[in-house]
Amino acid sequence: MQLQCLIPLVSLILIRLGLSSAQQPNYTYHFCFGGNYTSNSTYQTNLNLLLSSLSSNAALQNGFYNTTAGLNPDIAYGLFLCEGDVTSEVCQNCVITASKEIMQRCPNKKEAIIWYDLCLLRYSNQSIFSTMQQIPGVSLLNINNITNPDRFNQILGDLMNSLVRRAALDPSTGMFATGEANFTSFLKIYGLVQCTPDISDTDCNICLTGAVSDIPRCCNGKQGGRVLRPSCYIRYEIYPFYQLKPNAPASPPSVASPLPPITTITTTGGQGGNSSQLIITIIIPIVAAVMILSIVWFYLRRRRRRSKDRVKDLDEIRNVESLQFNFDTIRTATDNFSDANKLGQGGFGPVYKGKLPDGQEIAVKRLSRNSGQGEIEFKNEVSLVAKLQHRNLVRLLGFCLEREEKLLIYELVPNTSLDNFIFDPERRALLDWEKRYKIIGGIARGLLYLHEDSRLRIIHRDLKASNILLDAEMNPKISDFGMARLFLVEDQTQTNTSTIVGTYGYMAPEYAIHGQISVRSDVFSFGVLLLEIVSGQRNNYFRQSQRTEDLLSYAWRLWNEGTALQLMDSTLRESFSTSEVMRSIHIGLLCVQEDVVDRPTMASVVLMFNSYSVTLPSPSAPAYFMQSKMEPEKPLLDNSTSRSTEFSANDA
Ligand SMILES: *[C@@H]1O[C@H](CO)[C@@H](O)[C@H](O)[C@H]1NC(C)=O
Ligand SMILES: *[C@@H]1O[C@H](CO)[C@@H](O)[C@H](O)[C@H]1NC(C)=O
Ligand SMILES: *[C@@H]1O[C@H](CO)[C@@H](O)[C@H](O)[C@H]1NC(C)=O
Ligand SMILES: *[C@@H]1O[C@H](CO)[C@@H](O)[C@H](O)[C@H]1NC(C)=O
Ligand SMILES: *[C@@H]1O[C@H](CO)[C@@H](O)[C@H](O)[C@H]1NC(C)=O
Ligand SMILES: *[C@@H]1O[C@H](CO)[C@@H](O)[C@H](O)[C@H]1NC(C)=O
Ligand SMILES: *[C@@H]1O[C@H](CO)[C@@H](O)[C@H](O)[C@H]1NC(C)=O
Repeated sequence: MQLQCLIPLVSLILIRLGLSSAQQPNYTYHFCFGGNYTSNSTYQTNLNLLLSSLSSNAALQNGFYNTTAGLNPDIAYGLFLCEGDVTSEVCQNCVITASKEIMQRCPNKKEAIIWYDLCLLRYSNQSIFSTMQQIPGVSLLNINNITNPDRFNQILGDLMNSLVRRAALDPSTGMFATGEANFTSFLKIYGLVQCTPDISDTDCNICLTGAVSDIPRCCNGKQGGRVLRPSCYIRYEIYPFYQLKPNAPASPPSVASPLPPITTITTTGGQGGNSSQLIITIIIPIVAAVMILSIVWFYLRRRRRRSKDRVKDLDEIRNVESLQFNFDTIRTATDNFSDANKLGQGGFGPVYKGKLPDGQEIAVKRLSRNSGQGEIEFKNEVSLVAKLQHRNLVRLLGFCLEREEKLLIYELVPNTSLDNFIFDPERRALLDWEKRYKIIGGIARGLLYLHEDSRLRIIHRDLKASNILLDAEMNPKISDFGMARLFLVEDQTQTNTSTIVGTYGYMAPEYAIHGQISVRSDVFSFGVLLLEIVSGQRNNYFRQSQRTEDLLSYAWRLWNEGTALQLMDSTLRESFSTSEVMRSIHIGLLCVQEDVVDRPTMASVVLMFNSYSVTLPSPSAPAYFMQSKMEPEKPLLDNSTSRSTEFSANDA
């Protein structure tokens, strides 16, 4: 057995040579495998029959044919597939050439497969029909380099994925699709995908998706590439290598005309009288029955809810009691709110570190602002916010009320906040790309939980690097969420609020200017944060080579120039993954779109990060960043007299 039969995937270099007749099929690659058959055996006779049968059918069949020759145990199975765009003449020519060549390249081999640029041919001593096979496979590349590989990969990925969808999901294509995409104004990318039509749509999709995902491994930065597998085949080049124009967008599949709906029977012809009788005699009793049932159901439900509410109220009271801490306990835990224990100064008051008698470490936020709420409402809100539990949220453990004092007690997150790392000239090196990517994913999931998965649908309003705390394993935890609930009782969906809580540089324009708040204003802040994590630069005092340009405009300019990778923090050079960095920048730009409806939801953001087969829309220019004369990172608060510096900044 030859060594190459054992290697499922072999990469080799294919050099494009000068011009010659395009009709002449060119050999691409082959595999011989299985055992040896003996010369002059029945299997050999059957194989010869098989190959001549394939050759003679190539002109008659529509580019694909499978057949057998002989009887068990010496039966030979074979098939051929021609590229979807060739004439039957060219197809036959290719199959004839291939069947001669395969006998020479694989003498006495029971199984073999050979690829030409216009056809493939396979034979075997066992059935190969209707089963998807991905091995043995091979990738080939065009050795010429491409300029601007990141942009190229992006466009190529989009093109190939759309071709895969067309070939696998649109039955009218016969599992074959070609297409082109603009790379530069004078260069296009041409792509082709095809499956053997004996496999199912799903298998075709699996085979092609797998082949497309091989491109980065085989052909990164190259002008052309092919991935060949027994059941499917893909190719791309920057010159038109296929014969036909790209197949036109498929017309909608014709649908068998539906049976006339019941209503047309009852209203057509002279039967109208009958039908109205029918309606009266049947519908009226039904309507009456439904009404009676609804009344009974409503009555029962109200009774049940009343008793449920009583139980719930009792639960709530017990719950709130378990959340309430004794003021003296907290005072002792924080050493009487000593300066030594002060972790930082937040928008809502100073934060202290403390240790409870049972050894648990806590962070205590001493609220300096009047929450404008009575004691009962405050307790209720705390108990609701305390129910928000997610691995990417800082946990609210409880509260404390004592005369004028209002305290919130949180779990202590040991590694301070993200801004102390990514913007710090030395500590930024502690977060390599893998860690940063994990942090981005964690923040996205935490925010998704606040927006959609928790019962409360919380809008954070003040998402920023200093509100992302890092635990001992550098997992991100969002802090300061739910503050709007604790301070202002209001509807959580799109509202016009007179109280702006947020930070310049992170605030969505519609929120900063009109006070319009929605989950998509958080998405905007997330986008800014994402670009900050990738670049290691703050959005609000970002300077690039003397030019005052904010981070968003800078990212957008690089993206357009096709040099987005330059945005990346230089300390990541050793550890980054091009595709992950590019995807992060892409998603970041989508999140900071000016128009609210152009921004994705956090659910789509999480999906975009998890699934590389999701094609991302192209971003357009981001919202214009408002140049402010404010100090960086200064949270905007309402007109209260409170101090407005950072919470959670730990300079210890
Ligand atoms: C098959 O035949 C080739 C030569 O024709 C020989 O090198 C190889 O060892 C044989 N394999 C087996 C499994 O007999
Ligand atoms: C076969 O290869 C030659 C170059 O060797 C090329 O010009 C020709 O277009 C190829 N044929 C096909 C069908 O691609
Ligand atoms: C095909 O040939 C291989 C190798 O000689 C043998 O192991 C296998 O059993 C054969 N399969 C059938 C279905 O005859
Ligand atoms: C196979 O048959 C051909 C002609 O029928 C003969 O020339 C050749 O010697 C035979 N080979 C073997 C190994 O029997
Ligand atoms: C081709 O394969 C299909 C599916 O396995 C099978 O039903 C059909 O009989 C095969 N055609 C021939 C000519 O053997
Ligand atoms: C492509 O780039 C690599 C290094 O990036 C270089 O070694 C190679 O020679 C280049 N190939 C061509 C055809 O320019
Ligand atoms: C490619 O660019 C040309 C103009 O240069 C335009 O007409 C065409 O629609 C573009 N094609 C695609 C797929 O965007």
